[in-house]
Amino acid sequence: MKRPSAQISAVGRSVPARVMTNYDFAAIGIETTHEWIMERTGISERHIAGPGETTCSLGADAARIAMKRAGVQPGELDVIILSTASPDRLLPATAVDIQAVLGATRASAFDISAACCGFIYGLTIAEGMINSGAAETVLLVSSEKMSAICDWTDRATCVLFGDGAGAAVIRRSQKGRGILSTFMRSDGTLADLLYRPAGGATTPMSPAVLEARTHLVHMAGREVFKHAVRSMAESAGRALDLARLNVGDIDLLIPHQANLRIIEATAKHTGIPMDKVYVNVERYGNTSSASIPIALDEAMQRGLVGEGSIVLMVAFGAGFTWASSVVRL
Ligand code: UT7
Repeated sequence: MKRPSAQISAVGRSVPARVMTNYDFAAIGIETTHEWIMERTGISERHIAGPGETTCSLGADAARIAMKRAGVQPGELDVIILSTASPDRLLPATAVDIQAVLGATRASAFDISAACCGFIYGLTIAEGMINSGAAETVLLVSSEKMSAICDWTDRATCVLFGDGAGAAVIRRSQKGRGILSTFMRSDGTLADLLYRPAGGATTPMSPAVLEARTHLVHMAGREVFKHAVRSMAESAGRALDLARLNVGDIDLLIPHQANLRIIEATAKHTGIPMDKVYVNVERYGNTSSASIPIALDEAMQRGLVGEGSIVLMVAFGAGFTWASSVVRL
């Protein structure tokens, strides 16, 4: 097994108080049923931000919990990395808002855009910065207000997403704990299968964009599904190989929570039984990059894994991007 250089010292999560069930879509005129959503996705409910809840506020709340558990003060943070597909503003990075709210005066702060793979991409960057000596203490936040960027008139997408945040404090490895491998890939030739077509610099916001709703998430669901299954299974194997571990060494698989059928297919292809797979998609929906740290935090709080456990995380998302990591907690 590889000697780790950086470890996840502690994690935290925060989700909005408001819960929207599958039955609540009728009230906003969406033609769907609880049965359809459950059968196709495994999602029963999701948390949706209320007034004043933002990508920054959810991320900062998750960060405070992680920092308290790690015993880290805001002034000790060297770097704040925020992964998000739903920044509060396009400029500047939402990470600097989190920095300001936390009072992390010494830190540099920036956003990364890797969609649902943001937590694992961020973990890789944090590990690299600690390895190079550029940072001692990194705060990695994955926060999403997907409700602000999904099309609430499109039943094929609006039923899938939820809001929430997870955070991790990453520091130099101690006692063999830490990141044993990370694997990242992307394929930009497939970008248009899951994207927001307009509202950026190429086609700035305009009345026509608003009217066509092309500033919101568009997805070719079936195509995404196919690629997700293939790429997540491949990713899982690559992270295990890089960590020089076998499937049998894994205490828990934490896959990106987009769809129960994708999770089950990933587990099957990887050869990990479902009782070693963490699933909470039924209660949160797809929270993009926040899904893995929310699940990791829940699994730790429930005592399913703890110090010394070996966890495999696997994600897939817009880009397309796919990524995986094995950590010893
Ligand atoms: O974070 C990573 C990115 N996202 C994903 O991983 C999502 C990947 N894709 C999926 O999870 C699935 O493709 C979906 C759950 C999005 C859709 O499931 P599907 O089995 O691929 O359904 P479909 O898109 O092929 O649609 C089947 C039918 C269509 O009706 P017709 O054309 O067969 O008459 C849709 O209009 O289901 C209809 N439909 C719905 N019906 C009720 C689509 N959305 C809904 C809905 N309620 N919410």
